[in-house]
Amino acid sequence: KQFCASLSERCDNRRTYEVPVPTTMKAAGCFGRRGDRFKCVTVSVCFLAILLIVIHSGNFPTEWTRFKLGGFLFPTPLVCRERPANDTELQRLCLRAKSLPANKSCDVTVVTAYFNLGTLNKMSAMGRYTPKLYEQWMKSFKWINCPLIVFSDSKEVLEMFNQTRAGLPSEKTKLVLLPRQDLWAFKLAPEIKQVYSQPGYPKHQPNTVNENYSCVMHAKFELVNRVIRKDLYDTKYVMWLDIGLFRDLTRQPHNTLFRLVAPADFDEAKVGCSKVHKVGQNLTPRQIVERNLVWVGGATFLGKPDVLYVYTQD
Ligand SMILES: *[C@@H]1O[C@H](CO)[C@@H](O)[C@H](O)[C@H]1NC(C)=O
Ligand SMILES: *[C@@H]1O[C@H](CO)[C@@H](O)[C@H](O)[C@H]1NC(C)=O
Ligand SMILES: *[C@@H]1O[C@H](CO)[C@@H](O)[C@H](O)[C@H]1NC(C)=O
Ligand SMILES: *[C@@H]1O[C@H](CO)[C@@H](O)[C@H](O)[C@H]1NC(C)=O
Repeated sequence: KQFCASLSERCDNRRTYEVPVPTTMKAAGCFGRRGDRFKCVTVSVCFLAILLIVIHSGNFPTEWTRFKLGGFLFPTPLVCRERPANDTELQRLCLRAKSLPANKSCDVTVVTAYFNLGTLNKMSAMGRYTPKLYEQWMKSFKWINCPLIVFSDSKEVLEMFNQTRAGLPSEKTKLVLLPRQDLWAFKLAPEIKQVYSQPGYPKHQPNTVNENYSCVMHAKFELVNRVIRKDLYDTKYVMWLDIGLFRDLTRQPHNTLFRLVAPADFDEAKVGCSKVHKVGQNLTPRQIVERNLVWVGGATFLGKPDVLYVYTQD
């Protein structure tokens, strides 16, 4: 459902800006320096092996029953709650959207965060995900010419973003110091830990092992909700962006600013995100957890504030 009537201005700036989209192959080092070739071959072989296993395990993605909610397609068992017509917060967001300056009407406010969890048992072509690696990836935000809001409980991290963004007008960057204990997402840690420590619980690093990793995953939605409720944006769209999504910009020479804009055919009644794999309609929640199946990527999602408000509130 679209909650506000769309703003009248047409978004036309997609012709002006080129948005580099890092690909998995790039992340695997395939287009990098010569020394990366070995990594590329290794990753590709592993990928093919996994693909074959997936194909042969059967029961993978078949048909979908279309059930629309905020742009996602859910398999039939999920039920969408009706939003009450008298939701005053939603009404406020719609009024606010109408009062935004016309010259911001196509823009995207980018929201990101970093909470140091130590080294994660998550492997990339570059080895494990260490705090040092995340710090390196943060430098990609130097080139993102959008309003940016960064949350962290580390003054050092915010200081790093302050320096990284020094070349942009200062009003384009909001740095918010926020202790993780103040977040609903991190308060779930003991409960999540209990779930993961049940005997026989599947162990997929770090997804079903590290409770804090699950907390930061939840925090993405809480923080976008916070940005919307506290009026920290003044653009038509709001978008979550993981620290590492544009990591490629920190590995190759890069020296041009770029903007992020909604796709030309973006449906404003929906939440946009990228699909990683198809999902079969016959899968049970148990199978999804046991096999560590992935459907959509959490590294980024984009939408109009009213739509994202409903999505993140739920
Ligand atoms: C909104 O409507 C629901 C029933 O449709 C009612 O239960 C609720 O109290 C109302 N809320 C407000 C703030 O009026
Ligand atoms: C956008 O418009 C507002 C007034 O509506 C003006 O104050 C501001 O300078 C404009 N910004 C840009 C980047 O043109
Ligand atoms: C960085 O910090 C300085 C000093 O507090 C401030 O003047 C400047 O606007 C900040 N820059 C950014 C991009 O946040
Ligand atoms: C999660 O964070 C808490 C508090 O910082 C810490 O005590 C705990 O060891 C962390 N858990 C893992 C698996 O790293």
